[in-house]
Amino acid sequence: MAAGAFERAAGAAQGAPSGAPTGLIAGGPAAGAYALACARLAQAPHRWLVTGVAGFIGSHLLETLLNLGQEVRGLDNFMTGHRHNLEQVRASVGEQAWRRFTFIEGDIRDPQACACACGAGDGMAGFASMAGMAGAGGVAGAGAGADIASIGAAHAAHAGHAGHHAGHAAGASDGGEPPDGRAGPDDPDGPGAGDGVAVDYVLHQAALGSVSRSLEDPLLCHAVNVSGFLNMLAAAREAGVRRFVYAASSATYGDHPDLPKVEQHIGAPLSPYALSKYVNELYAQVYARCYAMQTVGLRYFNVFGPRQDPLGAYAAVIPRWIAAMLDNEAVLIHGDGATSRDFCFVHNAVQANILAATGTDPAAVNQVYNVAVNARTSLTQLHATMQQMLLAARPQHVPQAPQYGEFRAGDVRHSQADIAKAARLLGYAPTHDLAQGLRHTIAWYVAQADGA
Ligand SMILES: NC(=O)c1ccc[n+]([C@@H]2O[C@H](COP(=O)([O-])OP(=O)(O)OC[C@H]3O[C@@H](n4cnc5c(N)ncnc54)[C@H](O)[C@@H]3O)[C@@H](O)[C@H]2O)c1
Repeated sequence: MAAGAFERAAGAAQGAPSGAPTGLIAGGPAAGAYALACARLAQAPHRWLVTGVAGFIGSHLLETLLNLGQEVRGLDNFMTGHRHNLEQVRASVGEQAWRRFTFIEGDIRDPQACACACGAGDGMAGFASMAGMAGAGGVAGAGAGADIASIGAAHAAHAGHAGHHAGHAAGASDGGEPPDGRAGPDDPDGPGAGDGVAVDYVLHQAALGSVSRSLEDPLLCHAVNVSGFLNMLAAAREAGVRRFVYAASSATYGDHPDLPKVEQHIGAPLSPYALSKYVNELYAQVYARCYAMQTVGLRYFNVFGPRQDPLGAYAAVIPRWIAAMLDNEAVLIHGDGATSRDFCFVHNAVQANILAATGTDPAAVNQVYNVAVNARTSLTQLHATMQQMLLAARPQHVPQAPQYGEFRAGDVRHSQADIAKAARLLGYAPTHDLAQGLRHTIAWYVAQADGA
């Protein structure tokens, strides 16, 4: 594995561009919907829980939400996420915004950790928490234990809050307005993140990705991706959150041959991972039907961008290839190179989450959506594009021809999303195509590798 450049750069606090509205490419039709949603949030901040917050997508959600003035709680056990991702967000958003973040180190396989994170549980002792993580020691260690205890105590005092939202969740649409009496995020007398009241929105990202990993350890996949998901759903219900938005996956299309993929036509799952993500959708549907919860599933298609982990056996293709290229090593393409994907820059995924959480169209709730670009790129094309871009960004780069290996078990051959449903019901429109996203991404990895 070509890891050298990234091991050298690990921990460097480089702020990545966030998906906040300032970063939008102007002019697209849904730039309007997203810009409007962001403006509303900035005017009337809410409380959010991002699970998997130390991971790739979770850390971008955190960065955008903090830039929008929101109060954010994060839950992660660092199974595949990294403290340095959180440090990079901190460096990017600045200390004032960072104070609106509370981190809870915990495992979604533990119902109590989920309850704590949603604001629904008592008896939080035993979880490491770093409220605001503002201590000089950075992410590690500051304020462990005490902040969680305060979440539990305050929860008891705010027991009525969950009831307020429970009634609300049963209604059709929330109109995006803040709850009565909600204080602004920087109001010193107002409620801070981690003060024990329930969160408004959950963006559930925590899971074990990778088809290969799930084939090697299906029980672990089930424990985290299915049981952990159910724990989060139950905790969110108990807390009376307004809406539960979760990371679904294009893997759910399985062996269905149609292209582009439309949400209602799925095939048989090709891996335990694919099955786990489909079971998530089924549980969300059942919770919506039986308990009047508001849920939205986002079927991500090959999300990529800064902070995606390039290391390890289960790394995704784009960061893995950039790492290899930066170390002047040949890239290994699994299969003949014609395998194709709808690569989706992470800012598009962030946009989908914000729109899914705050959308006011009742028809948009309790649905699943494709989140991608509606383009298809073969691995061979991707390789050529990346080589060109890397050469432009780093003239000393020495392009290498790719090597071709065996197809990987469980991999879907072709993937491309129809994004019309998300466009129609959520107002989603990707702001970055593959080339635009790759330019940002390669620039970021080059800066990391060069120690900038
Ligand atoms: N990246 C993609 O292309 C893609 C595509 C489809 C779906 N998804 C889904 O999106 C979500 C985020 O993916 P990502 O690419 O950011 O992955 P990631 O591995 O970078 O992030 C996942 C985060 O969840 C945390 N986590 C894992 N198990 C946990 C547990 N038991 N308790 C608490 N935290 C736990 C990890 O430590 C990590 O920080 C996942 O649910 C994934 O399945 C991602």
